[in-house]
Amino acid sequence: MRYKIAPLFCRPWTLNGISPRLIESHYENDYGNALSSLNAITAELEALDPATTPAAVIHRLKRDEAALLNSTLLHELYFASLGGDGRTLPEPMAQAITRDFGSVKRWRDEFIALAYGLAGISGWVLLTYVPRDARLINHTTAGHEQSLAGGIPILALDMYEHAYHLEFGANAAGYVAAFMRNIEWDIALQRYQNAAKVEAPPRLIQKQFADLPSITVEEVKGMIDSGNPVQIIDTRPRHYTTRTHEIAQGAVWRDPERVDEWIGELSKAEPVVTFCVYGFHIGCETAVTLRKAGFDARYMVGGHYAWKAIKGPLTLLEDTSSSGPGPIMERIQQEEPSADPPLE
Ligand SMILES: [Fe+2]
Repeated sequence: MRYKIAPLFCRPWTLNGISPRLIESHYENDYGNALSSLNAITAELEALDPATTPAAVIHRLKRDEAALLNSTLLHELYFASLGGDGRTLPEPMAQAITRDFGSVKRWRDEFIALAYGLAGISGWVLLTYVPRDARLINHTTAGHEQSLAGGIPILALDMYEHAYHLEFGANAAGYVAAFMRNIEWDIALQRYQNAAKVEAPPRLIQKQFADLPSITVEEVKGMIDSGNPVQIIDTRPRHYTTRTHEIAQGAVWRDPERVDEWIGELSKAEPVVTFCVYGFHIGCETAVTLRKAGFDARYMVGGHYAWKAIKGPLTLLEDTSSSGPGPIMERIQQEEPSADPPLE
């Protein structure tokens, strides 16, 4: 693999307050050097035998390769970010920015603040589209190798001193203002529209429960925090609960194999949320059973561990005895599992 130099995307003589001399030096020395170093390292990596080369050597080369590859990608984006008048955002671009930042002004203020934060430090300020979240975000990098995983940068401001010292000296603010005056929004919009076509990475789909209503842990926590009535049933398998001492606060544990014994405790006037260890089968199957019996039941996506992952409050499992597990729980806690069947 040999990386090829990309021609300058912007027309340096058209820029307002950023001279051709500055762009030429930047393009030739910094972008050019990054590209030639990247090709040298790529050749070095191709020539070595990974089976016999010390791991530390491969690690160092791959780390440098990633930094240099990102440097070339970001420099190409930087040069392509320039050439417009900075002010005129095409309507779809303004709408996308307003959707994700509240207003164009707010986006602009944040972007500039991030640039000021890098004055004298070096790094990149990037406007990036994240397909997973279908949204734009501003962020910085402290080096060349910190782009958001899966993100697609659509606007780049180079805050390395080589990008402005030649003409602006230490006046980073003057350089940032000049950059903002020269943003080429029409091309940024094309990049955004291309990025927005990238679909989010596939999420877990349980085909057998595709039609079953679910609820997120954040929504459940919100219901509890706001005092909305909800019946939360922890249906982790019996063998699992015998070796754990924690339960989501606000939930009661019920044996998923004995639904018939406790279904009568539930009220049809309030929604029911069921969950198991990871949110796969058991919480779903319990929700199916309850819905067939006429309850407004949903399963909690991600189960007990998703609750823990959002730092949802926990309480001792034994504490739930006072809130109604009754004889079912007492009987279960006396039993020891003979083996560990699958959790779900
Ligand atoms: Fe640069």
